[in-house]
Amino acid sequence: MEKWKLGILKCKCSKPEFAEDGGRIVCNNCGNTYFLQDNILCVEEEAEDNGTKFYEKIQGTRLWERSKVKFTASFFETKIYYQYLERYSPVEKGSLILDIGCGDGRNTQWFITNGYRHIVGADSNYESLLRLQQRIGAKDKGNILLVKCNALNLPFGRNMFDFVIAIEVLYFLNERYEIGLREALRVLRMNGHFMESEPSWMGMLTWSAVEGDVANTLKTFKEALFKEQFSSSSVLHRVFTPTELEQIYQESNLKIIARSGTSLFPVMFSHAYRAGHIKQNISPKQMTEIEQMCLKSSVEEGYHRHIVIYSELRGTHPTQNEPKP
Ligand SMILES: C[S@@+](CC[C@H](N)C(=O)[O-])C[C@H]1O[C@@H](n2cnc3c(N)ncnc32)[C@H](O)[C@@H]1O
Ligand SMILES: [Zn+2]
Repeated sequence: MEKWKLGILKCKCSKPEFAEDGGRIVCNNCGNTYFLQDNILCVEEEAEDNGTKFYEKIQGTRLWERSKVKFTASFFETKIYYQYLERYSPVEKGSLILDIGCGDGRNTQWFITNGYRHIVGADSNYESLLRLQQRIGAKDKGNILLVKCNALNLPFGRNMFDFVIAIEVLYFLNERYEIGLREALRVLRMNGHFMESEPSWMGMLTWSAVEGDVANTLKTFKEALFKEQFSSSSVLHRVFTPTELEQIYQESNLKIIARSGTSLFPVMFSHAYRAGHIKQNISPKQMTEIEQMCLKSSVEEGYHRHIVIYSELRGTHPTQNEPKP
């Protein structure tokens, strides 16, 4: 395993010296061990949370595949995220990047395609990581480390990463969202950048209303909890107002640089398409214009399905007083 990968791992001791030993990564100083399976670093979870259980039942994400299917929400939304990644990713290709809850890696893939050399994708779902792993070509393998772990307990040292993203992930932690955010910031370096995407309260109200799920709409309205359904599995997750997130950011020493979102048009179009409401032929020119509309309406203030915030860690590191590493 490449040196840069060994250098970012957290250990129980204060002077970790990790080395590869067969299918294991062992600290020569204290014996702490991580296991490798299919070249994915695996950290066993103490107890699974509801988000992790949900993704296990549905065998992980397929957002990369979905992003290739016309008129799915992911088809449009992935382009929206790529617009933000192009705008906010570090210029330096050697920067250390972490994609928390990377799933099957549609965003991780963006960093690979764009020539970044130190990329880490972390997720609690093994199947998603494996699908991503199988897509990585031989020439890129040294540039990326995939890790099966929980967002609540990342196996990386503090003050490490230049850019951390968490796209549609931390809201699954519900009341532990703040713990997940703190963990993301623990591994982010001072003046490093953080980009996250969380479901908007207004957006999810609109979505569940359009889908005709009145009970879910009212639950989202009253409790700020949205029921996400995939075939016969479901999970309840948190939704946010921009003001609520701004408050949390202020308390976390995160300076908001840009606040935008993903517009509601992707789910509107995908719903209309699935319901058979789009009857006319869509020309390639119209498709391009719909994509542009989704991009522009995401940047403007308005009805967002997700709130996307790009921020910088300033002042004092939120975990400054915690023991190293
Ligand atoms: C909506 S998907 C987003 C995936 C990816 N970020 C993307 O944009 O394509 C949510 C992801 O969060 C992961 N996840 C949920 N709870 C998690 C947890 N506690 N720790 C780590 N990953 C988690 C799921 O396994 C899933 O891959
Ligand atoms: Zn050690």
